[in-house]
Amino acid sequence: MNENLDLFSAPEPTGKAQAAIEMEALRTRLNRWAHEYYVQDAPSVPDAEYDRVFRELQVLEAEHPHLITPDSPTQRVIGAVMEGLAPVRHAVPMLSIHTETDTEASGAEAFDARVRRELKLAPDDPPIEYVAEPKFDGLAMSLRYEHGKLVQAATRGDGEVGEDVTHNIRTIRQIPLLLPAGAPPLLEVRGEVYMPRADFDALNERQREQGGKTFVNPRNAAAGAVRQLDSGIAAQRPLRFFAYGLGAVTPEAEGGPAFATHFELLQTLKSWGFPVAEQVQTALGATELVAFHRQVGARRDQLPYDIDGVVYKVNSLQLQRQLGFKTREPRWAVAHKYPAQEMATRIEGIDVQVGRT
Ligand code: IVH
Repeated sequence: MNENLDLFSAPEPTGKAQAAIEMEALRTRLNRWAHEYYVQDAPSVPDAEYDRVFRELQVLEAEHPHLITPDSPTQRVIGAVMEGLAPVRHAVPMLSIHTETDTEASGAEAFDARVRRELKLAPDDPPIEYVAEPKFDGLAMSLRYEHGKLVQAATRGDGEVGEDVTHNIRTIRQIPLLLPAGAPPLLEVRGEVYMPRADFDALNERQREQGGKTFVNPRNAAAGAVRQLDSGIAAQRPLRFFAYGLGAVTPEAEGGPAFATHFELLQTLKSWGFPVAEQVQTALGATELVAFHRQVGARRDQLPYDIDGVVYKVNSLQLQRQLGFKTREPRWAVAHKYPAQEMATRIEGIDVQVGRT
């Protein structure tokens, strides 16, 4: 209910106006609860209460179909089955990052030394501030919002042209369909779609029980779900999202955002409802990059999702512009991997056979 409604002096709302007000209030409540549940990991109501209100909204929507809005939680699965995935040319190419082949601490030191050299810094100049992030092992996604509405979600493809997977991405409840008022008229949020390990195990278990196809790893399962033609299937796959950057945005001169740092940009995305990994932090100089690499590496197995390394980015956007790109890779970022994970295996038996020769 709208608390600001003056019930005494306002004219009695008509049935339709009343329904519109109620539906708006239900949507707001459900979207807030979904954000608490999926993004903040802090649900404030039991699932049953969410379901009850969801059904209440469904009933009103069935009675007043013309009042259904695209940001309604009931509209995440549109049910349309696509004939194929349409190509999407990215307004700003989706680049890849240079990978530091040295998986030891010296990898971080080499990157810092390169950045300092490019910026012509002297050894006694202060350390550079970076943002250190996990390197999520999922698939890259570009989410395009126009006037606050999610209008398109596209895979990376070859970096220039990806595929339109909006119908599937809309089913990911962590991804806002509608942005708050302060968001710029054009905003492309880039990040990674992934499947948490526990959900991946449960999905495979379910697939085995039902005699379906099992998946090799969470990344493959996520990629398969994202490229489904039927959003009903994607909706049943437990996909999640982490934001890590921007594509095209309304320019500052036209009222767009004026971020000074990458960290500030990420915090703003968070305030607009996007999930940002809690491990993301600023790091001063090579020393703190090394510490981050070590600290995340030690906890890698405890993370609820797969990572294949960490990413370091120069925090100042002014310095990022100064550093620019080299053959389609930014000079201001690097991926720093971990040594390949070793697995203990036990040989259960050896079968010796004689061949023809
Ligand atoms: S930034 C211009 N940050 O790694 C820089 N990428 O080669 C754009 N990835 O497939 C990428 N975690 O999807 C960035 N924290 C992170 C990332 C990340 C994973 C993936 C990305 C892309 C590849 C970059």
